[in-house]
Amino acid sequence: MRRRAVLTAGALAGALALAGCSGSGSGRPDLSVGSSYMPQPVSADIAAGFLTITNKGGAQDRLTSVTSSVAGQVTMHSTVGGAMEEKSSFVIPAHGQLVFKSGGNHLMFEKLKRKPEQGQKVTVKLTFAKSGPLTVEMPVRSATYNPSANQSTGH
Ligand code: CU
Repeated sequence: MRRRAVLTAGALAGALALAGCSGSGSGRPDLSVGSSYMPQPVSADIAAGFLTITNKGGAQDRLTSVTSSVAGQVTMHSTVGGAMEEKSSFVIPAHGQLVFKSGGNHLMFEKLKRKPEQGQKVTVKLTFAKSGPLTVEMPVRSATYNPSANQSTGH
């Protein structure tokens, strides 16, 4: 009886370890990007961008840099109490989301090479610490476009 109990416990531990390694989504980030858009910029130098990154995986990831063919530089900003702050990275929690939206976190496209116009798409490359690069075709919307009408603009 005693020997059988030990064996059972050992088999159970093995099964759990296996599940931890190979279970779908667990232990690794699984990222997708949605709801991306750029309001057509008013200025010829600078534009904002918004998107939602969803992580279905069991491990967090970090957005570490953003680049775009239309901009010399893309920076990541958070808005806290109405003031914006540049950030070097953003965490996407396991089974969570990172949201860039008007009035909150946002991307800033600086040193624009051309002025994006409504109806165009802007290629944006997001680089993550674990998942590597992900390219998004970000549609350019009207200057006043806002998916949730109750929010104030970030700038
Ligand atoms: Cu900003």
